[in-house]
Amino acid sequence: TDDALVIFTPSGKRGRFALGTPVLTAARQLGVDLDSVCGGRGICSKCQVQPGIGEFPKHGVTVAANALSGWNAVEERYKSIRGLAEGRRLGCQARVMGDVVIDVPPESQVHKQVIRKSASERVMVMDPATRAVYVAVAEPDMHEPTGDFERLAQALADQWQADDVTANLGILRRLQPALRKGEWNVTVALHKGHNDTHPRILDIWPGYHEGPILGLAIDLGSTTIAAHLCDLRDGRVLASSGVMNPQIRFGEDLMSRVSYAMMNPGGDVEMTRAVRDSLNTLIGAIATEAAVDPAAIYEVVFVCNPVMHHLLLGIDPVELGQAPFALATSGSLSLDARDLDLTAINRAARVYVLPCIAGHVGADAAAVALAEEPNTSKDMVLIVDVGTNAEILLGNESRVLACSSPTGPAFEGAQISSGQRAAPGAIERVEIDPVTKEPRFRVIGSDLWSDDPGFAEATARSGITGICGSGIIEAVAEMRMAGLVDAKGLIGSAEQTGTLRNMPEGRTHSYLLHDGTAQGGPVIMVTQGDIRAIQLAKSALYAGARLLMDEMGIDNVDRVVLAGAFGAHISPKHAMVLGMIPDAPLSAVTSAGNAAGTGARIALCNVAARARIEAVVHRIHKVETAIEPRFQEHFVNANAIPHATDPFPQLAA
Ligand code: FES
Repeated sequence: TDDALVIFTPSGKRGRFALGTPVLTAARQLGVDLDSVCGGRGICSKCQVQPGIGEFPKHGVTVAANALSGWNAVEERYKSIRGLAEGRRLGCQARVMGDVVIDVPPESQVHKQVIRKSASERVMVMDPATRAVYVAVAEPDMHEPTGDFERLAQALADQWQADDVTANLGILRRLQPALRKGEWNVTVALHKGHNDTHPRILDIWPGYHEGPILGLAIDLGSTTIAAHLCDLRDGRVLASSGVMNPQIRFGEDLMSRVSYAMMNPGGDVEMTRAVRDSLNTLIGAIATEAAVDPAAIYEVVFVCNPVMHHLLLGIDPVELGQAPFALATSGSLSLDARDLDLTAINRAARVYVLPCIAGHVGADAAAVALAEEPNTSKDMVLIVDVGTNAEILLGNESRVLACSSPTGPAFEGAQISSGQRAAPGAIERVEIDPVTKEPRFRVIGSDLWSDDPGFAEATARSGITGICGSGIIEAVAEMRMAGLVDAKGLIGSAEQTGTLRNMPEGRTHSYLLHDGTAQGGPVIMVTQGDIRAIQLAKSALYAGARLLMDEMGIDNVDRVVLAGAFGAHISPKHAMVLGMIPDAPLSAVTSAGNAAGTGARIALCNVAARARIEAVVHRIHKVETAIEPRFQEHFVNANAIPHATDPFPQLAA
């Protein structure tokens, strides 16, 4: 016969092809995911495949050693210059000569699956909006008066099915030298957003360019700004970094920033400038950390709450400060990075901002929904993203509700007497002996407990500097369990509690967690004010969750997911002792880490996910805590530790 059976693994796709068909062509015709940047010219090696030889009883074929053509000059050249791993072939050069089973290794797939770093270890599929393609352009001709750009556009349409590409003036300026230097072969960074009708050229290089195509996923929080730098070719996170939001000096929480804008003419402009400046600084720092050129960053995805959303965009947030809390726009946005003054990255870079759910429930909540997918859950899941504002989602595959709750920055270590951001030296774990009332703790940067031998040496570099959000949550919960604090949240005296660590301070008492004076370190106390701040924060969180449960008509949830920048660090047991979250079996309380950041990364690496989350957000029903009288009622009852009226049977068990 003059055709042969070709079976691709792992997809199992199969078909018969004329002898002599290149493997890449067969893959394309069968819809097998096999990458190619150079368009089959034997330059990029993205098309590498691994042919099998011998018996394949599962597929019912026997593959002869010469089932693929021998090495041609192009493949030989690639191998001698760049090298090819044992058994690998270039799919664009090797041709089908007999029945064959061909494996496509993960790195040769465009839609690679990347394991997300999360407790649930879900996979994320690569499908970036920006990718590099290599293209051969027709040379100009005296009789053909078209411009160089038009011939490039034609070549992209013919070779990459990229019809009607556009390019900005910056690209047009560099086009002619690049084409001539590359002898009419160029690599372009091609971007097509999910709503774009035309792909656009973001960058151009002479010849074959192998440099990285990078993107940033940014979680723009009220207190901290966190960024992940990702390689859009394979989804790897090259560096992650965070800074404090400089807007803190205009107000610690969102509403105080809105009032700053209301009271001070030009205040919104000032805050916009502050956040954009620090974004540029952060981008510079993260690029330095990863040792990459920030000009290789072509895309940025933002998730943020509505107030940060408006301030980032340069929109006065004043309407968000008063009912009915109207957003200027709730839809997603695709913009030029230049419009946001992001000067540190590529000049042609694009920005995608996830949609907001409502005036108080922002793109950060949308990102959490994208990462945790409550809309596909069979059981009733409560997701709380703990930050300065808590984003709360409740639902399952039939209905999802959302609200946000003003927890304030206490959970992030702010407004706490010895509070600090999660950083080396911060106390993050606390245990208090119920009998002796003596504490032991762990600090970020060391695995040892404070009473382990070697602790002092292990923490010598960072010192013990303060207590972070997860540390204060554990400290308060442990104090409650050890009887140092009553259900109302009052710290007892030394006589009442039987420990000299409870010391008078004015008319209240404080608990001495750590006295570092001998080592030149600080004294870390948990004060009555700290307990109050945590009570306010946790009541707001709990009340928000209860409000959603009321709306859903349920008294219990099947599972609870703790998310947030430090969500991964909160101990479920302590969260429940405190009454931060409703009662649920402890084994059904899990941490998702920074789900908003993960959602941003998914939207960055997979353009189809953007369309998906936009559709999901459309169907999420939002509940407004600010105008709901029952919120206040729930809030007051949730002030007690764990709660004044709601039972916690799982806690007793
Ligand atoms: Fe580029 Fe095969 S497609 S080397």
